[in-house]
Amino acid sequence: MKLGILSRAPQAYSTLRLKKAASERSHQVRVLNTLRFAIDLSGEKPMLQYRGKQLSHYDAVLPRVGASITFFGLAVMRQFEQMDVYTPNPSNGIANSRDKLRSIQILARHDIGIPATTFVRDRADVLAAIQRVGGAPVVIKLLEGTQGIGVILAPDRKVAEAIIETLQSTRQNVLIQRFIAESKGRDIRAIVVGDRVVASMRRRAQGDEFRSNVHRGGETESVELDDEYARVAVQSAQIMGLRVAGVDMLESEEGPLVLEVNSSPGLEGIESATGLDVAGAIIDYIASQVAFPEVDIRQRLTVSTSYGVAELLVREGAELVGQTIDESGLRDKDITILTLTRGIHVIPNPRPSRVLESEDRLLCFGKLESMKGLVPERRRSQPRIKSLPKEPLVEPEGTAGSRT
Ligand SMILES: Nc1ncnc2c1ncn2[C@@H]1O[C@H](COP(=O)(O)OP(=O)(O)O)[C@@H](O)[C@H]1O
Ligand SMILES: [Mg+2]
Repeated sequence: MKLGILSRAPQAYSTLRLKKAASERSHQVRVLNTLRFAIDLSGEKPMLQYRGKQLSHYDAVLPRVGASITFFGLAVMRQFEQMDVYTPNPSNGIANSRDKLRSIQILARHDIGIPATTFVRDRADVLAAIQRVGGAPVVIKLLEGTQGIGVILAPDRKVAEAIIETLQSTRQNVLIQRFIAESKGRDIRAIVVGDRVVASMRRRAQGDEFRSNVHRGGETESVELDDEYARVAVQSAQIMGLRVAGVDMLESEEGPLVLEVNSSPGLEGIESATGLDVAGAIIDYIASQVAFPEVDIRQRLTVSTSYGVAELLVREGAELVGQTIDESGLRDKDITILTLTRGIHVIPNPRPSRVLESEDRLLCFGKLESMKGLVPERRRSQPRIKSLPKEPLVEPEGTAGSRT
């Protein structure tokens, strides 16, 4: 495999380890400075220039894109994706994880515990927000901080209000989060590669510091994760769209609470705490997946008019409950089930003999018309604008008469 590591820090521990792990496994590897790319959209095909010359073919790229160059780094990653180059961490996964609000908004939809969090804009709403998360002390966070910078513990309401006001007056967006006191300055960092945790450690803040980041002097020790923590770590990475990630979790009385999912986790702390070859695990995973570059299925599957992708809900009491997929007749209606989600389990390519249960969610590809009745109802709100006429106002070219 020919692998490119996107990094602006060729001498950093993580970059050197990844490079060495790749060479040891006889892969061709090169560290590419993210900022020396040019995105070339002048030709017939999407291309990339590197240091002024056309970039040669790569089988895979591993982005180690720092927070300071997110915009450009994401644009470069999108270009690699357009060129069908495999990456474990596609641009949308990195974008999701970069912003603390965006990431917990996504995680909160699923069965993943997060500390109670609110986001407000108007100073008049600050007090209610602090109370909503359980009152002071509260944690205040900048949306895009890393390494503990921009994470503040406000001991009481007055201080919290002052900090929030100060930050907002400099146009910084902040989150207000419940302080999880019982975690006592400790947290768990789990490194997820593919669908498993390959290494994990506990970090402990020093002195009266509550932030356990290694950059804030946090001390590390190897830790064996129990199943619940491992499941939450793997699922969080998957939900974010990352195959290589560092998931930070607090140990609360109610179990794991996810703080964030890092798309370029540092390797030095975790490798020295655990003695494990994390870099090697990352390289082996990339090599095993290189034949499967990211495909935007929704985009690819909705090219034929009147066909598309939808998630169908098997409603309680519906005829489908208790039927096998075969008996359900979905296939005859031109609907193919891609995955079946039951509770927290996802069953890919479910067999025709599988019996459907109420509350199953079916990710389907098929005729939109047939799927319509099965799509979960949206919560009703009064439509404020007039509905569109049934026929399109302008007939798309070439489709007149051919619609079925
Ligand atoms: N709500 C919270 N309750 C208790 N400790 C927290 C909370 N949020 C963050 N911390 C501590 O602060 C550290 C940094 O927070 P985190 O959200 O991971 O930001 P960063 O991106 O800067 O690492 C965490 O590792 C944890 O030790
Ligand atoms: Mg963190």
